[in-house]
Amino acid sequence: MNLWDKGFEPDKLIEDFTVGQDRELDLRLAKYDVLGSMAHIRMLTKVGLLQPDELEPLLQGLQEILDTIEAGKFTIDPGVEDVHSQVEFMLTAKLGPLGKKIHSGRSRNDQVLVDLKLFMRDQIREVAHATEALFDILLDLSEKHKDKLMPGYTHLQVAMPSSFGLWFGAYAESLADDMQMLVAAYNIANQNPLGSAAGYGSPFPLDREETTRLLDFADLHYNVVAAQMSRGKTERAAAMAFASIASTLGRMAHDVCMWMCQNFGFVSFPDELTTGSSIMPHKKNPDVFEIMRGKCNRIQAVPNEIALLTANMPLGYNRDLQLLKDIVFPVSGELIDCLKMAAFMLPQMKVKDHILDDKLYDYIFTVEDVHRLVREGMPFRDAYKEIGLQVQKGTYRPTRQVHHTHAGSINNLCTDRIAAKMQRLRPLFD
Ligand code: ARG
Repeated sequence: MNLWDKGFEPDKLIEDFTVGQDRELDLRLAKYDVLGSMAHIRMLTKVGLLQPDELEPLLQGLQEILDTIEAGKFTIDPGVEDVHSQVEFMLTAKLGPLGKKIHSGRSRNDQVLVDLKLFMRDQIREVAHATEALFDILLDLSEKHKDKLMPGYTHLQVAMPSSFGLWFGAYAESLADDMQMLVAAYNIANQNPLGSAAGYGSPFPLDREETTRLLDFADLHYNVVAAQMSRGKTERAAAMAFASIASTLGRMAHDVCMWMCQNFGFVSFPDELTTGSSIMPHKKNPDVFEIMRGKCNRIQAVPNEIALLTANMPLGYNRDLQLLKDIVFPVSGELIDCLKMAAFMLPQMKVKDHILDDKLYDYIFTVEDVHRLVREGMPFRDAYKEIGLQVQKGTYRPTRQVHHTHAGSINNLCTDRIAAKMQRLRPLFD
């Protein structure tokens, strides 16, 4: 049963191949599809294409479908192509021919677009909330552990003193950068494509400002062709923002895995948060952070998948675009799971004290000692050479004094300034 029925049945093989995963994936669009239709028919009434006495039963019928969706009881029947067809068939079953009137002045192409815009807007907002929650935890932990020193590495060789205050704060500030990408993605999603119809507008005098207002979009995609082009672009912008968060989180997960390794032994977790081995009885493994790292790496592949799917695609609607749903729909959920898991695990992380007392890290203080000599009046190059020669001869003994006061350093984390960066971005997602 197709909306585009014109007297012949499509081959079953063709139907299965072209519908693909849509009957399941479109369930996530169902709510937005109905909300889009409600706005569309209100607008049609405003411009005189529907009568007020037709609007009321249509709105009532759509509300009933929305209730079914919200109760988790909505399904797309076998033989029905997609959510747009299902909603229209259900409405027509309730109201007779009146139900068929909702499609005036639109196409499934702008219908799926508006659904996706509303869906992506919500997904981005949910990711933003999970990101903010982890950000707050990281900043708290940065303050809590600010006096706990650890080695800083360059080239994975011990370099200079760092601290858990710096480490936690670094990931928080990095998430504030990722949030800028989420803001950009949100602004791209938050534009109304409705009225672009199949991609070239409609002969009806549609009031596109009205649907923009009703659906609470910040603006329109004015140019109808640009509106169609935004399919793929919207998903790509969101995927890039998600990938940016995933790169921050994946890197942090890797640090934790490395530091849990006995060769480092900087951090540990309560036993019940670790996993075991079927053969080695002593194991307490960091599987949580390995899964997190793997998921985050996979998420970083998504913008490339979208780029390849949409490469060299002709202007206007093409059915390939449907496959974007397969790629993009699972991503926000996976990312939110990772963000929530990090927010659950990190406050329970035990951080070792006095890590730098180990002789292994003696050379980490060379720069401190060069600077001590400079403060005592020695020119920097002479001081550098003096300490360098001591290291070379094996006579260097660290004073183990760490004295960093400038903005963003061990003793001056600027936590409030970092918090303010995120604070400025939060209101968009409230
Ligand atoms: N399932 C389709 C999609 O996601 C809906 C739009 C169908 N439009 C069409 N011209 N066949 O793209």
